[in-house]
Amino acid sequence: MNRRTLHTLFASLAVAATFSTAAFAQAPIVLKFSHVVANDTPKGKGAERFKELAEKYTKGRVKVELYPNSSLYKDKEELEALQLGAVQMLAPSLAKFGPLGVKEFELFDLPYIFPGKDVLYRVTEGPVGKGLFKKLEPKGIVGLAYWDNGFKVMSSNKPMHVPADFRGMKMRIQSSKVLDAQMRALGANPQVMAFSEVYQALQTGVVDGTENPPSNLYTQKMHEVQKHVTLSDHGYLGYAVIVNKKFWDGLPADVRGQLQNAMKDSTKYANAIAQQENDRALDAVRKSGKTRVYSLTPPEKAEWRRALLPVQKDMEARIGRDIIQAVNKEALALGYK
Ligand code: LMR
Repeated sequence: MNRRTLHTLFASLAVAATFSTAAFAQAPIVLKFSHVVANDTPKGKGAERFKELAEKYTKGRVKVELYPNSSLYKDKEELEALQLGAVQMLAPSLAKFGPLGVKEFELFDLPYIFPGKDVLYRVTEGPVGKGLFKKLEPKGIVGLAYWDNGFKVMSSNKPMHVPADFRGMKMRIQSSKVLDAQMRALGANPQVMAFSEVYQALQTGVVDGTENPPSNLYTQKMHEVQKHVTLSDHGYLGYAVIVNKKFWDGLPADVRGQLQNAMKDSTKYANAIAQQENDRALDAVRKSGKTRVYSLTPPEKAEWRRALLPVQKDMEARIGRDIIQAVNKEALALGYK
């Protein structure tokens, strides 16, 4: 090699190095956010807003990849994937933390624990909500926010007016022991199943019915295979937005701050639209003409309460008496009896 060739070679190597350093410096941090529901739901829309704001606030230093509808992982797998770092962010329902070893989250599944959303917000934004997030840290997880969905309705192919109507029915539940106890208190047989499998299980009769807020029922088309829906307001469904702790702690401080702001703003948005999304979905279910939507009469409501309220006491040892009492105290402070 003569001097001239050598010189050219060094020059081109230097250019290549400059390019790759520049490319490296500009490579965005990828944040994979996996969830199990449709985009057109409170959680789906909250995730889309988070992506938009996270990319905007970090000026593109973070790229959020959304994987809705169990397209990457199903319920149980997604929690494992988060702990392994295969995804960085999830928003599982609060009924799905038991298998992770943080059963106290099942507080949110207790029948009639929240007489209104005002009590719920006091709980999630107060010491109980923060205390629950603390319990995630030893699992390598950081809790960032609570996202709302709404109160659940019951669905099946039979009218469900009183608890006796549930006798012997196979009801799909999420992986929560409280929900198991709730279905048993109604005389039903609970079956744990991943969300992505529910539609088909209902269609083929593997289970007879299920519970979910209208937004999930409608966007998964469950109303097409369920003739009856009862507006029972017996229980609540919400989410914890969580991140892999190693990923979160390893972010540059300024980026973490920008993502915190994006989370704060998308949480406000998700919680503001949750009720209207559910109202809209219920309306669409009614309009479909495929499902009869039934509202309980006051005496029927009283019967449901009589059957389901003992679950609160029965689950005290699992959830912790202190946190159940803390919720009841908030309710009293807000004027509920
Ligand atoms: C379910 O599994 O029934 C739902 O909680 C899914 C979800 O994330 O809303």
